[in-house]
Amino acid sequence: MCGIVGYIGPRDTQEVLLDGLEKLEYRGYDSAGIAILADHHISVEKHRGELANLRNALAKHPLKGHIGIGHTRWATHGQPSDQNAHPHLGPEGKIAVVHNGIIENYQYLKDTYLQGHTFKSQTDTEVVAHLIEMFYDGDLFAAVQRTLAVVTGSYALVVMCVDDPDELIVTRKNSPLVIGLGEGENFIASDVPAMLAYTRRCIYLESGELARVYRDKVVVTDLAGNVQKNIVDEIEWDAQSAEKGGYPHFMIKEIYEQIATFQQVLSGRIHADHVELENIDLSKEEVERWDKIYIVACGTAYHAGLVGKTILEKTLRIPVFVEVASEFRYRDPMIDENTLVIVISQSGETADTLEGAREAKAAGAKVLAITNVVGSSIARESDMVVYLWAGPEISVASTKAYTSMLIALYLIGFYFGDLAGRVDLRKEQETLRALEKLPEQAAEILEQDRIQQIVDIAKEYVDVEDLFYIGRGMDWAVVQEGALKLKEISYIHAEAYAAGELKHGTLALISNKTPVISVALQEKTFDKTMSNTEEMLSRMMDENGDISGARVLVVVKEGHKPISDKIHHVIEIPDCPDFISPVLAAIPLQLIAYFTALERGCNIDKPRNLAKSVTVE
Ligand code: M6R
Repeated sequence: MCGIVGYIGPRDTQEVLLDGLEKLEYRGYDSAGIAILADHHISVEKHRGELANLRNALAKHPLKGHIGIGHTRWATHGQPSDQNAHPHLGPEGKIAVVHNGIIENYQYLKDTYLQGHTFKSQTDTEVVAHLIEMFYDGDLFAAVQRTLAVVTGSYALVVMCVDDPDELIVTRKNSPLVIGLGEGENFIASDVPAMLAYTRRCIYLESGELARVYRDKVVVTDLAGNVQKNIVDEIEWDAQSAEKGGYPHFMIKEIYEQIATFQQVLSGRIHADHVELENIDLSKEEVERWDKIYIVACGTAYHAGLVGKTILEKTLRIPVFVEVASEFRYRDPMIDENTLVIVISQSGETADTLEGAREAKAAGAKVLAITNVVGSSIARESDMVVYLWAGPEISVASTKAYTSMLIALYLIGFYFGDLAGRVDLRKEQETLRALEKLPEQAAEILEQDRIQQIVDIAKEYVDVEDLFYIGRGMDWAVVQEGALKLKEISYIHAEAYAAGELKHGTLALISNKTPVISVALQEKTFDKTMSNTEEMLSRMMDENGDISGARVLVVVKEGHKPISDKIHHVIEIPDCPDFISPVLAAIPLQLIAYFTALERGCNIDKPRNLAKSVTVE
């Protein structure tokens, strides 16, 4: 996720900005830059890659001044490059802007307001710099207001103007921004670690607010310019916990971030009754020609593919095969120009998946990548890309990327299904509306009382050696990811089974030492999954029908009570169509893994033997 800094005051602005950007490095970035205003001129230095590249360039040509802005970029629109790095300038270099978020209607803004403008980058942000400069007539605040009135999307913005050397204007909508208060100086950052060395007093700007930041005062207003009361907070975190936003681990931070990432992956892609996807340019005939789809991925991304199989078979009505990437390429799969191959990879660098993509292309298939990292190898080598826009995932255990992969698969399914004219339009409408509700439903699952229930359940798993997950259909796909999450961070042996398959052998392993987690979110198999859960319960009972030891937990939708009163725990997720329930079901399973690992004292963000990006075959 991009990092923003800003400074106005007597210090060496370049050093304050670079220091702040360094403190935001943990957020992940692919390029960095700063702009400093002095003598009616804005100077910009920006470079692709490590912050060291920027530092080295500035060491040769330092920028002097007492007002400036800086940015670490995590690419969304446009490859990582010097040109696409922020800050961006207006056409005459009067306005400089840094931005975190996504301007959804940037193409519309270009076509409507900025015809004839020449852009130096491929970013959505440069459009904002051009708009502000176009609207500027001596009143910077008014120009920003006019710009915000036509922009849709999410943003944290800092704006600097050559004619206004004593003021920075900041605003935010659904992207974080903090103003740090000093004595005769003020600081701006997307996150508090960037300012902890200078101040602990700050104003957390609310979504939809603007602030005029001067050396000696900060004036917060609403969009209409009405002055708001400044609410000053004291930062109590140390530098390390500040990086994690006050959470003890990146994993739990990233689990909570899903409220925002659900929004981000949908951002600008749902239009009233249909889906639009950038970077995809296919004709109806091409899509109609596909006679099968392969999904190729590893680990968590493979589990997203298992859900994707149901999604794409329903929306495209052609067979979908899901393959573990390390197996796929050695299997001589039946691929030709009538095959679509979808490769899924958070990092975009997983060697097995990359080789799978290459194999598929060589065989003549179209390759569509779903990835989180713009400019990654898989993104570059594929024919089409759908980005997750989930921001960097730091914890080794993938959480927010997984759920964004699922949402991307729904969008892809409806997009291609529509093109081929195979989608049930009423179902599409219902699903699109339900997808839009996901962010608020994620927030419901993450409410404190629901979390406490999971914390208590996790305490029961501390000394467990084996744990079983069961489900049917999409729920089976969901529990496979749930089991992987538990294994990789808590080191408990967990197995995920198709609920109806247990009786063919694995039931022999069930005893009062093996807790069971049963996911039953599909109406058409609910009763069957419950019966299978009962089969397991009865293997856990003693001769008096009592169960001592292992516990049974079921995950259901609100109001869908399990039949047996022997079930120990029921976790409810908010009501949603069965078809999209995997997205919400993922969250409690992630939380169970997290709190169990926490109870067991494991190294959650860096589990033993594992790496975040697996670049060896
Ligand atoms: O970056 P990728 O999505 O290609 O990574 C694939 C797997 O290595 C990854 O999902 C792994 O299984 C995670 N550690 C699971 O949490």
